[in-house]
Amino acid sequence: MSSDEDLQQLRGVGSATADKLADAGYNTVKSVAVASPGELSENAGVGDNTAEKIIRAARQEADVGGFETGSDLLEQREKIGKLQTLVPEVDDMLGGGIETQSITETYGEFGSGKSQFTHQLAVNVQLPEEHGGLEQSAIFIDTEDTFRPERIAQMVKGLEGEVLEDVVRRDLEDYDKEDVEELDLDEDIEELSEEADEVLDDLVDEFLERVHVAKAFNSNHQILLAEKARDMADDLEDSDFPVGLVAVDSLTAHFRAEYVGRGNLANRQQKLNKHMHDILRVATLHNAAAVVTNQVQSNPDAMFGDPTKPVGGNILGHTSTFRIYIRKSKKDKRIIKLVDAPNLPDGESVLRIKEEGLKPE
Ligand SMILES: Nc1ncnc2c1ncn2[C@@H]1O[C@H](COP(=O)(O)OP(=O)(O)OP(=O)(O)O)[C@@H](O)[C@H]1O
Ligand SMILES: [Mg+2]
Repeated sequence: MSSDEDLQQLRGVGSATADKLADAGYNTVKSVAVASPGELSENAGVGDNTAEKIIRAARQEADVGGFETGSDLLEQREKIGKLQTLVPEVDDMLGGGIETQSITETYGEFGSGKSQFTHQLAVNVQLPEEHGGLEQSAIFIDTEDTFRPERIAQMVKGLEGEVLEDVVRRDLEDYDKEDVEELDLDEDIEELSEEADEVLDDLVDEFLERVHVAKAFNSNHQILLAEKARDMADDLEDSDFPVGLVAVDSLTAHFRAEYVGRGNLANRQQKLNKHMHDILRVATLHNAAAVVTNQVQSNPDAMFGDPTKPVGGNILGHTSTFRIYIRKSKKDKRIIKLVDAPNLPDGESVLRIKEEGLKPE
């Protein structure tokens, strides 16, 4: 059955209205059921009363999600993992790290460090739990062509000596505990022996194998890739490194460039909203962390405080459960601000972006 026919089952929807709805992107009964009357009448060009009637009918038809008991929810929440940045001050502020099963949005101006943050998490997610990771792999949707394997390499080599020893032993079969200790991985990068250097290069290869990168050429492609991420997460579910991080860098750039002008705003929000829910679904189903980046737009209305706010407005705000604002400070220093979190106080912390990755002050 085509979706048009699907919509025509609804009371008050003839073929002309169904076409209007479909043209405005409301292809399924469910998409109508979760719309607001104002949004529907504006986007699809139907009267307010009609919009209300259609939505009411759609809500009766659609499966808009059922109820779960508190204990089901608690059981699911008990599985929530924490992915650490490995900057203790930041992790403390985050209540232990970035949570799985939610979306964390990082926003800030250009060069603030959003992509650095995302690269670092793609490394950290692979670490054993005792070192702040989830021992899982990463999916990285790269929309601005800013993913750099070389940067991953620097960050892997920049891990603490003790962490390096453990992951070398885990990932490289030829090295047992004694061999690894002899490599002296605590040393400064410049002081490493030739053998240690080679071992770290092999280790980097292992880490890069577990970052699954796809470039998105436009917003529709980006939406498709998020749908594909779900298949990939299913495929990797029973592997040694299931998906523990879904990163989208940048979430909003394509949407912002393609949907210009007020007339396109509703459409843009609707697409972004769907996209965010796709990402959230992978995160919840696979107990993975989802991290998206967002630029800021200038906000001339703001008389006080920081004259910037994230692109995307309210819808993004409601879907991303944690929001982190990154602000440039002197040189490599960055202020990390927790803006919105369901069960944590707002807070501020500091880190530095170094060649070795994100590091404490
Ligand atoms: N290898 C490195 N060593 C040290 N610092 C680095 C390194 N690579 C990047 N940086 C720092 O990170 C900054 C860039 O940060 P990043 O690319 O994460 O910004 P962004 O917030 O993603 O910006 P945009 O909005 O343009 O995507 C650089 O200005 C530099 O200070
Ligand atoms: Mg970036």
